[in-house]
Formats: sequence, structure tokens, C-alpha cells
Amino acid sequence: MSLRHTYTLIAPFYDAAIARATESARQRSLAALPAEPGRVLLAGVGTGLDLPLLPGRHHYVGLDLTHAMLRRALPRAGSVDFAPVQGDAQCLPFADDSFDSAVLHLILAVVPEPARCLGEIARVVKPGGSVLVFDKFLRHGQPALLRRLANPLMRRIATRLDVVFEDLLRDVPELALEYDQPALAGGWFRTIRLRRL
Ligand SMILES: C[S@@+](CC[C@H](N)C(=O)[O-])C[C@H]1O[C@@H](n2cnc3c(N)ncnc32)[C@H](O)[C@@H]1O
Repeated sequence: MSLRHTYTLIAPFYDAAIARATESARQRSLAALPAEPGRVLLAGVGTGLDLPLLPGRHHYVGLDLTHAMLRRALPRAGSVDFAPVQGDAQCLPFADDSFDSAVLHLILAVVPEPARCLGEIARVVKPGGSVLVFDKFLRHGQPALLRRLANPLMRRIATRLDVVFEDLLRDVPELALEYDQPALAGGWFRTIRLRRL
């Protein structure tokens, strides 16, 4: 079964499982969106839990693989300027340098090829633009035995549990690390800010 199929099944239950636990970390991450109005890509926008937290000054494009998730996002946009797009975050249907910023909340650890996804983000974000990441990552050498054991199943149905952020960043030299802080679950989830060079 593909991730598109599993997220179609997960969509009706997603908010109940995720919304409350993640809201304050989302707020902290989104506070770093630029003050100047611009175009912002929300990659893997899901059911749009970020949308009510977004400042109104930007134009937002929300990309997701799963129609059932996007359908739930649309009513959340309210007065925010938001355009949903169905597509793959590992092969973005956008021109180079077409966004001022990108938000990657709970998507880098989900996609099968996270380095390819981050590389695509570096391609579509303009030099000087910011990339805001909120996700769960392992650190080099961290045993995390349960997570590694569960990974072969979990990566097929919802999310990878074995992604080391530092490995991704090494593969995408166009992005520089600006900020990296523990966000939830004892630092398993982190809020990370990158700058497109
Ligand atoms: C864990 S949810 C995160 C949703 C949202 N960003 C949030 O913070 O709540 C992961 C989302 O990624 C989407 N997804 C999975 N693979 C994808 C891909 N290759 N390209 C784009 N979206 C994908 C799923 O459909 C799902 O909506």
C-alpha cells in the first residue's frame, strides 16, 4: 500500500491524534516567517493544521500527495491567501527560485527520499529565503532501538523513524543551518531553521 493510500485512510483521524500535541511547536516555527510579504510553500500541508496559525501577509501554496488531506485543508484557510496543489514533494511542480520561504512541518521524515525532498526545496526557494522545519529526527549514533525496529513497518504506512537530519543537510549544501532546537518528546522532534545560500 502506498503512502497516498495510507494517508487517505488516516485523514479523518489525523487532527484528533496530532493537533493539540503539535500546536505550540508549530507556532514557534511559524513565528520565523519573514516580515515582508512573499510566496510561501507549505510542503506536505496535510489537513492544514498550520493554516490558522499563519500570518495573513503572504501568499501560500499548500502541496500534498493526498487529495483526502488537501480536501480537509481548504476550509482551514479562512481569509488566508491559500492555493492547494496535489503533487510530490520529492519532485516539485514549480520553477526554480519561485518561493520566498518554505515550511516543512512533518514531511521530511515522511517521504521515502528526504534528501531529494530537501534538494527540491533548495531549488524552488530563492537565495536568501528561509526554510522552516519541524519534524522528528535521530542523531548520529543514537541507538533508538524501538524506533529502528518499528521503522520498516512505519515507513510504509505513515513515517520514517530513522532519518538523521545532519545527513540530509550534508547532501544539500545550498542550505545553511541557522537554528536547531528541541521541540517535543525530549528532543526527538526539533524546530530547525535553514537559509538558502
Ligand atoms: C504527517 S502528515 C503532516 C501534515 C502537515 N504538514 C502537518 O504538519 O500536520 C504528512 C503529510 O505528507 C503527505 N505526503 C506524504 N508523502 C508525500 C509526498 N511524497 N509529497 C507530498 N506530500 C506527501 C501526506 O499525504 C500527509 O498529508
